[in-house]
Amino acid sequence: MTTDLSIIILAAGKGTRMKSDLSKVLHKVAGLEMINHVIMTAKRLNPKDLAVVISDELSAYQDQIKAFHDDIDIKFVIQNERKGTGHAALIGLSALGDKSEKRSDKILILYGDTPLLEVETLSEMTQSLGENAVCVLGFESQFENQYGRLVVNENDDLERIVEFKDANLEEKVIELCNSGVVAVLGDKFDEFLSKIDDNNASGEYYLTDIVKIARDSDLKCGYVLTDEEEVLGVNSRVELARVEDIKQNKMRHEFMTNGVTLLDPFSVYFSYDTKIENDVIIHQNVVFGPNVEIKSGSEIKSFSHVEGAKIDNNVVVGPFARLRPGSELEKNVKIGNFVEVKKSKLEQGAKVNHLSYIGDSEIGQNSNIGAGTITCNYDGFNKSKTKVGANVFVGSNSALVAPVEIEDNAMVGAGSVITKNVAQDDLAVARCQQKNLTKAAKKFRDAKSKND
Ligand code: UD1
Ligand code: MG
Repeated sequence: MTTDLSIIILAAGKGTRMKSDLSKVLHKVAGLEMINHVIMTAKRLNPKDLAVVISDELSAYQDQIKAFHDDIDIKFVIQNERKGTGHAALIGLSALGDKSEKRSDKILILYGDTPLLEVETLSEMTQSLGENAVCVLGFESQFENQYGRLVVNENDDLERIVEFKDANLEEKVIELCNSGVVAVLGDKFDEFLSKIDDNNASGEYYLTDIVKIARDSDLKCGYVLTDEEEVLGVNSRVELARVEDIKQNKMRHEFMTNGVTLLDPFSVYFSYDTKIENDVIIHQNVVFGPNVEIKSGSEIKSFSHVEGAKIDNNVVVGPFARLRPGSELEKNVKIGNFVEVKKSKLEQGAKVNHLSYIGDSEIGQNSNIGAGTITCNYDGFNKSKTKVGANVFVGSNSALVAPVEIEDNAMVGAGSVITKNVAQDDLAVARCQQKNLTKAAKKFRDAKSKND
């Protein structure tokens, strides 16, 4: 169900302070680009239309961003000259539809570099429209900062926003700050924007001026108050780290509230999309990359790195394990220390407990892969598959040279280099035969000591 709400995301900023070749909004928080966080939040409000105002540099990434959000038609529009937030909003508006009479009832403006916004806060803002022509998201801050200030009247209605640069001493000490997020009545927005000028300290078109413009027409304006943390914008790497920290803490809190045990919450790092069911235990120092799902009863032990993995019930991973994309662990699987798994499926009860690499493989039910076993999946040109059936026992320190198949109930002797398929119930041994030379060790020692 879509609503009569349109959203414009402003993301044409230069981001000079990031000191990066990459556009600011493409820097990641919890493994996802900031712009994609904001678009995801926007989508949860079911907008009729979504426009993103971008710089020329960012335009090369349009298709990539679009592909990530295949459930909505994002309208990208380029702002060639940065003339301020009011100018950027006007450009965004032009992408929503060419006739102002066709405007959505409500328009919401977000920033591409403010990734922690909550849907509930934004809904509260749009709900206040009707009563208010403009609703601004504000926050209180006791710290010295350069945010615009909200000037309210005796009824606590918003009268105007004054930019820090333009504020007088009295205005500069106002604690009520502007987050930049603003909701506006659609049928008034064109008129408000047309009245903005650049007659101010920055010589820019300030979007914030629409409050005073609305008030001059006797329209009511209001604000919604939120925490400073929710509206933190990223301008530098230091701020990026702070936003990451806040996001991680939120996710930790959410997981614990939903029944996941984190033995040391602050040492566990999640991806924006990590999915973990209740009664999973995560030990200290575990890092999750994108696309991980873990079902109830499983345990991830310390110092494991997990990405692109589907983990079923009652699986144990780690300590010191690495699961790479395409790892699929069925119920009761065990992955032990210094084991790396990539693009492989391990069926119920399979065990790879020590020092192994399992890549491009299928390991059948209850099979045991001995310590130090390596699947040789790459010949320098192509990747090949290893297939191990059910109840197979692979002895320690074996190399399984793909493509190769070891059928059900077969065994492989320790230290084997397996290059040929092994049939069901067979035992394969592929190593030099052991030769014992009678008393040769003693003779060797005796000969050596005579020389001394
Ligand atoms: C703005 C607000 C200020 C508020 C602060 C919160 C105005 C005039 N001021 O100031 O009251 O406290 O945000 O962070 O709105 N952008 C464009 N094109 C432009 C200019 C900006 O797309 O021409 C985008 C930027 O990419 C950014 C957002 O708009 O996402 C805000 O721009 P920025 O220059 O950071 O505004 P501030 O000066 O911080
Ligand atoms: Mg800013």
